[in-house]
Amino acid sequence: MSAIPVSDVDLYTPEARTDPYAIYAELRSLGPVVHLPRYDLYALPRYQEVRAALTDWRTFSSARGVFVDPGMNAQLEGITLCSDPPEHTQMRSVLGRPLRQDRMRDVTPTIEAESERVVTELVSRGRFDAATELAEHLPMTVVSDLVGLPDRGRAKMLEWAAAMWDMQGPAGKRFEAAAPVVGAFMDYVAQEAVPGNIDPDGWAAHLYQAADRGELAHDKCPALMLDYVTPSLDTTILAITNAIALFAEHPDQWDLLRADRSLMPHAINETLRMETPVPQFSRVLTDDHEIDGVALPAGSRVALLYGSANRDERHYVDPDRFDITRRPSDHLAFGRGEHVCVGMHLARLEMGTLLGHLADRVARFDTITSTPLINNGLRGLEHLEVTVHKAETPAVSPH
Ligand code: HEM
Repeated sequence: MSAIPVSDVDLYTPEARTDPYAIYAELRSLGPVVHLPRYDLYALPRYQEVRAALTDWRTFSSARGVFVDPGMNAQLEGITLCSDPPEHTQMRSVLGRPLRQDRMRDVTPTIEAESERVVTELVSRGRFDAATELAEHLPMTVVSDLVGLPDRGRAKMLEWAAAMWDMQGPAGKRFEAAAPVVGAFMDYVAQEAVPGNIDPDGWAAHLYQAADRGELAHDKCPALMLDYVTPSLDTTILAITNAIALFAEHPDQWDLLRADRSLMPHAINETLRMETPVPQFSRVLTDDHEIDGVALPAGSRVALLYGSANRDERHYVDPDRFDITRRPSDHLAFGRGEHVCVGMHLARLEMGTLLGHLADRVARFDTITSTPLINNGLRGLEHLEVTVHKAETPAVSPH
């Protein structure tokens, strides 16, 4: 049996939240599992072990929470993200109904129209913040309409969601600042976002309707609403912003995409692989378990470092290179297995539609300034000021 390598790295300093890649490389070099005593976490930094854990929910359970802080894990026990089959299967089937791939037809016309509108306006201006003016647009208009919360809720959704993500890290300044905001959010979903106040055709109302049909316990509805609001906004906003930052830095890759739109799915995957918006979740071992000769006791909290796995040199050749012809459809940015992102078809649709309209109109992006987001659960850019060179010729193969 091998000894467990130990590291005292801090994954939650502002520097590590901004650029974790040197830390990830160090952890990967230490072994397939590394003990981080600072948080009493066992980190899996390499691709193969993260993927194996994701597809073995009986051993790697989500039911005791998937975050770092014990209080937060206790508070969110029972939401879809923090549950195991069979409860998970039932909740996910209700929650995932409007997000199924075949349901994307219903939302495509609105996403198309809104994408065209925002891209036309911003490109005509020539300079804009790709995070707040471009990437926030679809999640904050189309997605918040689809959830169907009353107005006060919509205005607060981004603030609430960011606070929920901040509370996923260990207790500390960011965590403490987020706590009252999360409290307000919880009160709102339980007391205000209830039938009568919510759009009767929205996703939130569908949860209550499913409960009326006996498919779900009524008292689960507020918690399931958190599953819609928290992961549907910032994740996609960061992914879109990351795509623009990467294409600004790699104009040759933008040229490739503009010339051949069949590369779009690969460009989306490569963006998510390179800059993974949700860099980690965790699981708890239900039994004693051995990982590559290292014994871990039942009850250990295991951190699945998606952001590191996606840059594992054992799995991807030259992993730090952005290459949209790589076709990395096996990346772990959406997780995998039982909990694989239920909103991934919507996220891909939003990303692909916006990038398609940009590819029609923009020959090149130049980054003027960027500001990293410092958040315990998310990674990416809070601001990305760019200028665009307008395309003189129409794109070669329209989307
Ligand atoms: C690029 C954007 C997105 C990224 C990177 C992302 C990432 C993830 C990841 C990594 C997981 C796996 C959780 C785990 O391993 O425990 C997940 C699950 C989930 N995502 Fe996403 N997500 C994105 C967009 C969305 C959207 C747009 C929605 C909703 C509209 C959404 C809703 C959810 C939900 C409800 C779960 C929990 C599923 C379950 O536990 O079965 N996500 N997401």
